[in-house]
Amino acid sequence: MQTIATSVDDSFERMRARLEAEKARPHHAINPYFYRSHLVHEQELEHLIFKSWIYALHASEIPNTGDYQLLEIGEDSIIVVRTEDGDIKAMHNVCRHRGARVCEATQGNRKTYVCPYHGWVYHIDGSLKVARETHVMPDFDSAQHGLKPVNCVTYMGLVFINCDLNAGDLTASLDQIKAQLGAYDLDHAKVAHRKTYRVDANWKLAIENYLECYHCATSHRSYARAHTLKDLEEKSAPVVAKMLERADEITGIPGISKEHTTIYLDAPSFGSCAHAMRYGLFDGYVTGTQDGRPAAPLMGDIQDYDGGVGDFQLGPLSFMLNYPDHCVLYRFLPKSLTETDMELVWLVRGDAVEGTDYDLERLTWLWHHTTLEDEYIITRNAAGVNSRFFEPGPYHPEFEFTLTQFIHWYLHTLEASIA
Ligand code: FES
Ligand SMILES: [Fe+2]
Repeated sequence: MQTIATSVDDSFERMRARLEAEKARPHHAINPYFYRSHLVHEQELEHLIFKSWIYALHASEIPNTGDYQLLEIGEDSIIVVRTEDGDIKAMHNVCRHRGARVCEATQGNRKTYVCPYHGWVYHIDGSLKVARETHVMPDFDSAQHGLKPVNCVTYMGLVFINCDLNAGDLTASLDQIKAQLGAYDLDHAKVAHRKTYRVDANWKLAIENYLECYHCATSHRSYARAHTLKDLEEKSAPVVAKMLERADEITGIPGISKEHTTIYLDAPSFGSCAHAMRYGLFDGYVTGTQDGRPAAPLMGDIQDYDGGVGDFQLGPLSFMLNYPDHCVLYRFLPKSLTETDMELVWLVRGDAVEGTDYDLERLTWLWHHTTLEDEYIITRNAAGVNSRFFEPGPYHPEFEFTLTQFIHWYLHTLEASIA
């Protein structure tokens, strides 16, 4: 972890002053303070990250009773498990006695969780089964000492968690983009590959980078050859219009390209962002591969390649890029003040067979390489932003519009947290 020399007299007072100063410079990148302050980071975790809906895994990754995966967020660990009734549940990986982690391996199958410290045993749904020698404690109530629950919903096979038990309804929000997302039949998809890219940068820099394509032409040569998002709308409009005109007919999915955006401050409840739009690929490219040629069988009920790609946002930290024959999910999680985990998940049809229906190297090439390019620029960005001499410049009104929405929500949330 890169150490940042935060001023020792950092305080809510200072944070308030910095937030006020941002209001005087709207539409500009934000002050380095927000990337350097440990106090800010702590507030973010408490009031933003742990109140957000976060993609955890695909339901097909834990098909059997007792199958689980750990989700690591900052210093925290959450168990996501398939319980006996077939549901997927989530809970904190923290023993209710003196706080040891009850589960070490990042994934597997368990009949119980046994705390390695004093041996308390939990059922897979988190309820306490046995606490050794507590019969001498007349007031001890097992029912009050289950692993703490985490909010968990499954939507089209995508499992989301939220540490806020009073969080708003993500499902209602995602229902607004049901037709567009439903086209890919994610319920019956499978994970072809997933990989975590640890970046030496504050989590906001990684998301900011994802939310703008101003850098695409300069940093992502392969991506930019195929995707029109790297251009201003005035330039890409003819290609996009041609694709949109025939998208419904070619894909066979009515409404596949319908645009819907309720993200950040416009989301119906905190952290329940939903966004869908379809943008065009240049002539000769039908999907997100190095050469633009198909990589896997068509997803869901999609009939043919329309030269389009679905752009989605699901909650504040998770995104999807859905090609007719595969989907790429992107999730950002802070590891520390100066480290972020970018998780990429490649999804294909559930019945597609590796080696026969798709070649993993071909399937993952574009977004693996694009992510390595992003890693390079994000870490350079972090190094510059962490300089106390960085003077923030203006956002581009079109290319960096969504990023401006993210920053606006972020500053608003931080301000509310210390109000
Ligand atoms: S900390 Fe888990 S049993 Fe004591
Ligand atoms: Fe990028």
